Amino acid sequence: MANPTFAAIDIGTTKVCTVVAEIIAGEIRILGTGVGPSAGLNKGMVDNIHAAIEAIASSVDKAERASGTRILSAHVGIAGPHVSSMNSRGIVAIADPRHPITDGDVQRALESARIVNIPNNREVIHVVPRYYVVDGQDHVVDPLGMFGSRLDVETHVVTAGSSAMHNLMQCVEGAGVRVDSLILEPLASAEAVVDQEELNQGVVLCDIGGGTTDLAVFVQGAVIHTAVLPVGGQNMTKDLVVALRVPQPAAEITKRKFGHAIPSMVEDDEVLVDAFGSEGTKSVRRRLIAEVLQARTEELFETVLSEIRRATQHDTLSAGLVLTGGASSLPGIELLAEDVIGLPARIGRPHHLAGLSDQLSDPAYSTSVGLLRMAMKSHDVMFRTAPLLPSASLGGLLRKVAHLMRLVLPQ
Ligand SMILES: Nc1ncnc2c1ncn2[C@@H]1O[C@H](COP(=O)(O)OP(=O)(O)OP(=O)(O)O)[C@@H](O)[C@H]1O
Ligand SMILES: [Mg+2]
Repeated sequence: MANPTFAAIDIGTTKVCTVVAEIIAGEIRILGTGVGPSAGLNKGMVDNIHAAIEAIASSVDKAERASGTRILSAHVGIAGPHVSSMNSRGIVAIADPRHPITDGDVQRALESARIVNIPNNREVIHVVPRYYVVDGQDHVVDPLGMFGSRLDVETHVVTAGSSAMHNLMQCVEGAGVRVDSLILEPLASAEAVVDQEELNQGVVLCDIGGGTTDLAVFVQGAVIHTAVLPVGGQNMTKDLVVALRVPQPAAEITKRKFGHAIPSMVEDDEVLVDAFGSEGTKSVRRRLIAEVLQARTEELFETVLSEIRRATQHDTLSAGLVLTGGASSLPGIELLAEDVIGLPARIGRPHHLAGLSDQLSDPAYSTSVGLLRMAMKSHDVMFRTAPLLPSASLGGLLRKVAHLMRLVLPQ
């Protein structure tokens, strides 16, 4: 029998990344990747369905070609300020305490934790078990096979705004791909870059993307808080546009080429940057670039700090922060994070996957790799892609156009 194959799509504010993988002997092997520029998304939320569909379809097409498969359905990342989370406890009675606790009992406990008081314009997307309590015995990791008359489960429940969620699903389906599951992006990124020891000792995952910064706080091996802040690398670039008076593409290049988060660590020489108006180019002090980036990044970490304080005490977070996402490539950013937040920090890159290309090892791809890992863990992986025959490639395209037309044309 062929190995199970499946796909994940990370629809970011700046890029869309589709990855196809197979499972060999319980391990993920990447078969192909399709990355393209994003469109129709603002701060992690869809604001132009047609532009988003095109961007997703193009990334899916590239991944299909690279992997030689047809993507029928995919696991999709979700983020944005409409996402919120809370902790909830589920409690069930065990019908016959003479029998060991079964998977059915655990499922019933999780179902009861899922019943949370939320407005009817929100939907539950995750119920993550943190630990169990069996007849008052606290912090049980796995209650299966234990004896007891009452089972409690402490969970982290993530909810999303219904309309933002359906807009996202509409875009993926418009591109001809069914949605297997929606996965909260910070949980996916954590899965890709945080190790077990860090989870056990307490850690904050901080994925700084283009439009959003995604947070997940873990204490004693379990998630206790998640948040999506509407700030990211695009704000840093925008600040450079305003401070240096240069066009956005020049500001983006300047940030990547000369940017630093700590002004005192760069030489105060001048660099040449494309400019507006008749000048063509202008020279800018390298330290000024760093000062602008430092101000925005410092402000971002102050917001991160207040989110951390809402969640827990610093002494429960011995492993500190793991920074990832495209904007974590800004040199010096981990030093600034340590300074503002007062916890040790490191940069997290996806690793340990067969077939992982150099491109996917960049921190910008943590979410994509994590989506694959989470999908595999949820046992929801089946035959979700099909071999790509030369004629099927055209079929796939026609299918996408048909979906697009259905969305565009009145029914
Ligand atoms: N070397 C670098 N220095 C500073 N910033 C960088 C560097 N390389 C990439 N970035 C920034 O990373 C950001 C993109 O990150 P990423 O690809 O993780 O975002 P995304 O997933 O598309 O967006 P989001 O997750 O916010 O929806 C851009 O703002 C880009 O400018
Ligand atoms: Mg992202």
